[in-house]
Amino acid sequence: MNRRDFLKTCGLVGLLIEGKIAFSRFPSEISFRGSVPLKKEDGRPFNIKDVEKYEPYIFFYPYVSTPCILVDVGNRAEGGIGKGNSIVSFSLICSHQWTFPTPSETFITYYGPDETSLVDRGNVIQCCVHMSVFDPLKGGEVIDGPADNPLARILLDTDREGNLYAVGVKGKDQFQEFFQANHSTLKRLYGSLKRAKEIVKESRVIKLKDYTKEEIKC
Ligand code: FES
Repeated sequence: MNRRDFLKTCGLVGLLIEGKIAFSRFPSEISFRGSVPLKKEDGRPFNIKDVEKYEPYIFFYPYVSTPCILVDVGNRAEGGIGKGNSIVSFSLICSHQWTFPTPSETFITYYGPDETSLVDRGNVIQCCVHMSVFDPLKGGEVIDGPADNPLARILLDTDREGNLYAVGVKGKDQFQEFFQANHSTLKRLYGSLKRAKEIVKESRVIKLKDYTKEEIKC
């Protein structure tokens, strides 16, 4: 190993030791890996028992500005966790043209089992910008509309006490497209794009209806 390679290797090892490289790209379907504890607003762990059925929650992972939805869909779901394998999580960035919830409104949201959507059934995630509908029971696959890709899945895990962790992102996440398409909104919300791209170390979970003023449904 020459001196340049040696110094490069030392630098890389140093970053890993300092925990600055929290995630790495993987060639498989897993686009990010990194264990982040989910917390309540008061800082206590967010436990699997805290998840109310059919209530959509929001948290941010793996970046401070990338929203995720967490919901108990009431039935066994692909990749679901919990007693009924019914708790799932997805990136709440529409896979069509990267719309996302802001504190003022959201065009993409979860519809409970008794709500009507564009596909005449509930228990879906729907985006009213161009009417894409996704199935949270089937890994976020597209049911209808112009989106070509499913919603990226957020992998969840629990510790022995049932406290929840986000541990990875599976599927096409489109985070870079999201940063590019929404850079002015993200600058307004986070002060700078650099801040918006920071990786989270822990993430607060709140009800989506408490995060955003208006859930726009269609
Ligand atoms: S941005 Fe969601 S359907 Fe087009």
